Amino acid sequence: MPLVMKEFSDIGQQLTSKSGIDDLMEDLFKALHSGRTDLCQLNGGSPAVLPEVSELWRTRMMEMIESGEFDSLVGTYAHPRGDVRFITALVNYLNERYHWGLTLENIAITQGGQMAFFTLFNVLAGKKSSGEQKEILFPLCPDYIGYQSQSLCGAEVFRGIKPDIELIGDHEFKYKVNFDLLEIRPETAAMCLSRPTNPTGNVVSDEELAMLHQRAKKANIPILVDNAYGAPFPNICFVENNPIWDEHVVLSMSLSKIGLPGTRTGIVIARPEIIDAVIGMTTTSALCPNNLGQKIVAPLIEDGRLDTLCHDTLLPFYYDRSLFARKLLNEYFGNDVPWRHHKSEGAMFLWLWFEGLPISSQELYERCRDRGCYINPGHHFFFAVEEGDEPWNHRHECVRISFTATEDALRRGLSILAEEVKKAYQK
Ligand SMILES: Cc1ncc(COP(=O)(O)O)c(C=O)c1O
Repeated sequence: MPLVMKEFSDIGQQLTSKSGIDDLMEDLFKALHSGRTDLCQLNGGSPAVLPEVSELWRTRMMEMIESGEFDSLVGTYAHPRGDVRFITALVNYLNERYHWGLTLENIAITQGGQMAFFTLFNVLAGKKSSGEQKEILFPLCPDYIGYQSQSLCGAEVFRGIKPDIELIGDHEFKYKVNFDLLEIRPETAAMCLSRPTNPTGNVVSDEELAMLHQRAKKANIPILVDNAYGAPFPNICFVENNPIWDEHVVLSMSLSKIGLPGTRTGIVIARPEIIDAVIGMTTTSALCPNNLGQKIVAPLIEDGRLDTLCHDTLLPFYYDRSLFARKLLNEYFGNDVPWRHHKSEGAMFLWLWFEGLPISSQELYERCRDRGCYINPGHHFFFAVEEGDEPWNHRHECVRISFTATEDALRRGLSILAEEVKKAYQK
């Protein structure tokens, strides 16, 4: 007899229940492997595949095969902390740039940034033997959908703050941290935010980050900064901003958005007690992280090729794509319906807001999907904000689109989206 879900343990049910990230990965896979060239996949978080970038990975693989390094890459377990050469290269590189005074004890490598947050959330938040329930506070929602079902203690451990909304011109806006609503409680274990933010492309300003950091320090809790798109790599940032680190900050980075998502390589930079916890979780769950990304990238950090790649290839590509997608929005939406996009400050997404949209973003997503255009309905990204007594329509009026798709797919996809939005307002 097949095992049904209600027979799973509480943790089993928590880990296997369907959430926004499952739909996203499923849609991504379906569209990718459907063989249908007419599908417009504007929904994923995968980086664009760029020929210069693929060429660099191929060159590194050839170098490793020729030098014999390939044999230890596939044939050995690394230390659970990660590869010593890679971590040493990171320590030197980050200290040179930012003077953070890091040592090897401040870094651990994980199976991707996703696993880093699974570890951090579960180490820091949830039930304690004292009966207390610790929480993770998201100071600026919406935030990354992938966090939604990561706590083994359920979504109750997440609390999110509604943003201030600054309107910019006729068709733009920006979310800002609402410091009046930001309450750190005795049960708050840590704050967390992605910067640049997935889904909005927001870059929380240096001033806002400094204020959050101050509040965290005063409450003696860490602030987790998810730097998956940030400086120094991949540095998909269109506005000036500076990463920060000290013992109250847990900075997470990833090799995915430089073009190596398949290698599953995340980087956690934190004080040693937190790093030891991450290493413990890696040992328990996987013995050690994946060698591949670390071995490919270590020499590129050492000799500056990674900086060149980010500066000369990745940043111009994503900046141009963002401009192109915004040009299309103006063309397709014009002034017919109330539409705005979040100020595009980084990452690979545009976040669109249709104020007063007569249908939900879920319904809009389904109508577009039925016409072969995949977008992400926005409500999932507000997972940490309680529904509350007053309905907050904004959470059902937004969608995320990724601008990594080809120009042709963006053209076709955004024109379908514009048609469906216009139809919805007409009824
Ligand atoms: C903000 C953010 N954090 C973390 C991740 C997870 O990335 P990975 O596990 O590939 O490093 C993603 C992936 O899209 C992301 O957008």
